[in-house]
Amino acid sequence: MTERLFLTTIAACASLTVPAKDILVNTPNTSLLLKAEGGQPLHISYYGERIDDINQVYAAYSLWEPAYPAFAGGGSNSYALSVKHADGNMSTELIYLEDKQTTEANSTLYIISMKDKAYDLLVDVCYRAYNNSDVIETWTEIHNQEKKPVTLLKYASGFLPLRRGNAWVSHQHGTWGAEAYIYEEPLQNGMFEVCESNGARNAFSSRANIMISLDGKPRENEGRVVGAVLCWSGPYRFSIDTPDQSEHHLTVGINEANSAYTLKKGESFTTPPLALSYSTEGMGGVSRSYHRWARLNNKVHNGTATRKILLNSWEGVYLNVSQDGMEKMMDGIRDLGGELFVMDDGWFGNKYRRTRDNCALGDWVTDTLKLPHGIPALEKAATERGLKWGIWIEPEMTNTQSELYETHPDWVICHPNRTPVTGRGGTQLILDMSNPKVQDFVFDVVDRLMKETPNTYYMKWDANFDIANFGSHHLTADNQSHLYVDYHRGLTKTLERIRAKYPDLVLQCCASGGGRVNYGLMPFFDEFWVSDNTDAQQRLFIQWGTSMFFPSCAMAQHVSASPNHQTGRVIPLKFRFDVAMTGRLGMEMKPEDLTEKELAYAKNAVATYKEIRPIIQQGNQYRILSPYDKTGYASELYITDDKSEAVFFAYKFEHYLNQARPRFLFAGLNPDATYRLTELCRNGNADHWEGHTFTGKFLMQQGVEIALNGLFASKVIRLTKQ
Ligand code: GLA
Repeated sequence: MTERLFLTTIAACASLTVPAKDILVNTPNTSLLLKAEGGQPLHISYYGERIDDINQVYAAYSLWEPAYPAFAGGGSNSYALSVKHADGNMSTELIYLEDKQTTEANSTLYIISMKDKAYDLLVDVCYRAYNNSDVIETWTEIHNQEKKPVTLLKYASGFLPLRRGNAWVSHQHGTWGAEAYIYEEPLQNGMFEVCESNGARNAFSSRANIMISLDGKPRENEGRVVGAVLCWSGPYRFSIDTPDQSEHHLTVGINEANSAYTLKKGESFTTPPLALSYSTEGMGGVSRSYHRWARLNNKVHNGTATRKILLNSWEGVYLNVSQDGMEKMMDGIRDLGGELFVMDDGWFGNKYRRTRDNCALGDWVTDTLKLPHGIPALEKAATERGLKWGIWIEPEMTNTQSELYETHPDWVICHPNRTPVTGRGGTQLILDMSNPKVQDFVFDVVDRLMKETPNTYYMKWDANFDIANFGSHHLTADNQSHLYVDYHRGLTKTLERIRAKYPDLVLQCCASGGGRVNYGLMPFFDEFWVSDNTDAQQRLFIQWGTSMFFPSCAMAQHVSASPNHQTGRVIPLKFRFDVAMTGRLGMEMKPEDLTEKELAYAKNAVATYKEIRPIIQQGNQYRILSPYDKTGYASELYITDDKSEAVFFAYKFEHYLNQARPRFLFAGLNPDATYRLTELCRNGNADHWEGHTFTGKFLMQQGVEIALNGLFASKVIRLTKQ
């Protein structure tokens, strides 16, 4: 810091003499080009395919924007940073100071320091370029070295100018039971925004991820595409400003609305990373880069570990858990070849028993009327059956009917002068994670369960309410606007503590289904519950959308009862399995409700999944026929890195007389290799290609005819390189 202060004081004159410098930030197949020059803001002039000759870029066109534009700082109407300085001045003019480069295990870190021309406000613009995936993370560290507090009015993570063309944006929107639906639209003049302000479940409506296709309507496996993902669990804003004929300006960061953040003298603020990706292989190329980045760099906790096949009790018995009932379900999943049993909601509460969903959150003691022998007896029952044990918690929440709320009414999020609006059951409230005492309490929920039942393998961490009553008992009057940010900092701090003590505990991230599918939390969680909707037809759409940014190893996908509990739809067991198998397979029903024939089918499906799961959980995904294209068909493929083993899935989920049949083409294969095709989990006649061999080129150009007859027909085909 001493050196930094020295640099600060000499910045104004030094900046005039620092020679211009090109900084080329490279991943294996992409480059981002920056120019640092004394007396100037850092500039960005290129993001795209990897380049070696940067002079081509400067000679070709004039994209020349500040890499991190500040409000009223000159040079750009779009801005990523807006600061009210100690003296009330609202303008910020950043100029380049110094930069450094550090080599890390899987990446190179670039830190480019800038300083306001007249104020002691320093901004480090950081880029981390990975060498194992085509992802560049960018974020900033804002340091207040002024004499008094400054207020951050906007503090985006990153800014990216793009040359204009026929650009389209793909974004995602949804709601409970219908998450991650894909929407696409051309980028025209004006402002496009994806903006979220829920507070706790930031993936419930929109998602903190977009893709921009640069060559017209988005395509799966062709065309140039830029991806942008904000690694943050709170409110966010993605803005694309298209002010004129030549450029689009992408600004991404924490949603600054109601979140002005004050930095005292000497304090710093680190923005969450914005993970950028670029591919010439369409949206699928960008997806595969994010999947790889997530698996290999712990952006999903323990991303390379094999995920176990589980049975979750929720849709089987809902809140009616009992020792007998749980043991019966354990028997069921053991007989089918499953590996893990998870008891969901309903197991806790003393004064208020969790017999309905309107009480007891926060009272994490076993309901001994339902479970007289306690949790250790259930863990023992699972172990005796050769199963791992898992349990559900919702530690950030409480109900007005709970001993916790009676003891600590000031722990909930709500301004002291307001009566809280309640959520689920008419009683649910959210605890204030900005409060260190609440953080300790939440840590203890996990810690006490682990102490009581040390062999617990898995916890499902749920969150079923929002920051609906903005206001904190804990934060000072001046700092109320810190709540959204400090909630998530408190949450991640707590998760860091849990991970430090329990690195191997498998944690599922759930928030009324997929309400928290974001890369702010996934570094702490091994997987997420994709949706409370387990209807296999609708899951095709939800899973398709989710897979745009998240790897299959993290996607919890369960086979449930038929008729489906959410939609009432009747779907054959094979189709339900074939849809669930493209992620981390599980079941969520009473196995005893299956017929003998279905049990035999399920047993074979579980055994088959065990064989192919390395390909699915760790392979590269190629989405091919999109369910969104309204043909009534969908198909996709997973393939190992060496392209020797692949699994292809084909579905027919609508049925019409004389419906046009698609051509089933394969993707991502080695064109020169020969593959043998074998249908897995077949429950009908063999197709004529069964057991035959084809070159990868033939399969990708010609494909094979796949007999999908009638509604809810599906096939799983294994491709083995000869
Ligand atoms: C949420 C989850 C479900 C289930 C219930 C239990 O809705 O998304 O999977 O765990 O809570 O109450």
